[in-house]
Amino acid sequence: PEPGWTTHADVVVVGSGIAGLTAALELRQKVDRVLLVTKGLLSSGSTVWAQGGIAAALDPEDTPEEHLQDTLVAGVGTCSEQAVRTLVTEGPDRVRELVKRGAHFDTQADGSITLTREGGHHRDRIAHAGGDATGAEISRALIAQLEAVRNDPGIEVIEHAMVVDLLTAAPDAEGRPGAICGVTLHVIGEGSRDGVGAALAKAVILATGGIGQLFRSSTNPSSATADGLAAAFRAGAAIADLEFVQFHPTVLWEGSSALGQLPLISEAVRGEGAYLLNAEGQRFMVGQHELAELAPRDVVSRAIVRMMAQEESDNVFLDCRHLGGEFLKKRFPTIHARLAERGIDMGTDLIPIAPAQHFHSGGVLTDLRGRSTRPGLYAVGEAACSGVHGANRLASNSLLEGLVFATRAAKDAAAVVAERVVTQHEPVNRLGPSALVPATQRPRIQSITHGGAGPVREAVGLQRADIKLERLREQFHTDDAGPMPQVAEWETTNVLQASSVLVRTALAREETRGGHLRIDFPKQDTRWEVRQAATMDADGQL
Ligand code: SIN
Repeated sequence: PEPGWTTHADVVVVGSGIAGLTAALELRQKVDRVLLVTKGLLSSGSTVWAQGGIAAALDPEDTPEEHLQDTLVAGVGTCSEQAVRTLVTEGPDRVRELVKRGAHFDTQADGSITLTREGGHHRDRIAHAGGDATGAEISRALIAQLEAVRNDPGIEVIEHAMVVDLLTAAPDAEGRPGAICGVTLHVIGEGSRDGVGAALAKAVILATGGIGQLFRSSTNPSSATADGLAAAFRAGAAIADLEFVQFHPTVLWEGSSALGQLPLISEAVRGEGAYLLNAEGQRFMVGQHELAELAPRDVVSRAIVRMMAQEESDNVFLDCRHLGGEFLKKRFPTIHARLAERGIDMGTDLIPIAPAQHFHSGGVLTDLRGRSTRPGLYAVGEAACSGVHGANRLASNSLLEGLVFATRAAKDAAAVVAERVVTQHEPVNRLGPSALVPATQRPRIQSITHGGAGPVREAVGLQRADIKLERLREQFHTDDAGPMPQVAEWETTNVLQASSVLVRTALAREETRGGHLRIDFPKQDTRWEVRQAATMDADGQL
């Protein structure tokens, strides 16, 4: 399809979670025209679902150095130490800025922020809001700031706008790929910006979030379809660490037919002292790790998967009965209410849980300023692979990553635009991928990806998944884009493309590390203490 309309901005920000909102607000102070586009409503990304909190060394007894150590240990040898140092050093100031922007964290009687503990942390350093509604409060505060400047001609927001592809300028005289110079958007029901259009810009910041929809069950919302990752890959940007998918240990088990977004039971519940029990009622984490139930997330998820296999069951249990019904209701109001709707009383009942997909440590490869390997293209938050998470993200480091690196990327993009280092280029590429996958194929792709590259992986399952995904790709390959596709088809195309690449990187990594569990290579291998970065080949594959 040809664009029905064209708009211009200095910088386009794609996505409205903590990273996208932070980038847009930061940019607005520095450039003339910012365009923020988001696939649903401003508030409908993953950030609003974040329960536990945001980690930062805010306690006077705590230090960024200790936060660094915990993050590196959780990341199992594959973090970029420089990126983690940036995260933990700048983190406390960014959280204080968030407070200045109006976010209300839970506080103690003396007004200081209440800090709790989560898996892998050796200190209480998790700030939370509304008990277990941290993301919702951060999102509310940032959106309120944005609404306050909504009439400002320097910032435009387009909701219901899916990024279809990145626009690229012609190669330079030496044949180097041209800069990213905008995005194609598919917009629904937004007046003069309706239908497929182009937003031309001097820089694009992708803050499109995660990949939950590649899997059968996830804590992510249905919008998490790897849009930024797939578009960046198609535009030739390097991607990295795709195989490192985090499966959260404690997601409510609602039966084998429960698919899609499942309710998360925050790690902070274990932080307050809840136990994990097997079918016999025994605490099986004790003796497995010095931190027992509060071991890093990959360790706990793996132990649960092993226990479920041993007991031939589909779930284990979370036990918080000893914490008391009144306390639980006050400390975890959202989780308490969500469980009560399902007939579970946290104060008196065991909670059936099992691991489900939760977070992607991999993504678009970026440097300390959020720059991808393609000029003009930035990625921040979960869409990026900044190197802070390595093989397994430390609890509550994701909101912090969004905050710290979005601020850095916005500063860099603003400087580049303000210094007129870049001018607006004309795009030369076509609008959107040519081979589109019908939305009806999404459950099939999820089932294949989850089967091969779910919490337990081995070569034979990954190879099978690769072949099945390749067949789907061939089936839908056509140079004729046909009539105007719908958003769900663009999304499903991204889900298939990202699944294929993820399965291949998981197949290549012949070891077990962090979120990547290979039963055919059950040990960590020092030869694999590296990050896997890759770009697309001429055939559109890894
Ligand atoms: C949780 O509350 O357990 C999730 C927090 C996170 O993913 O860091």
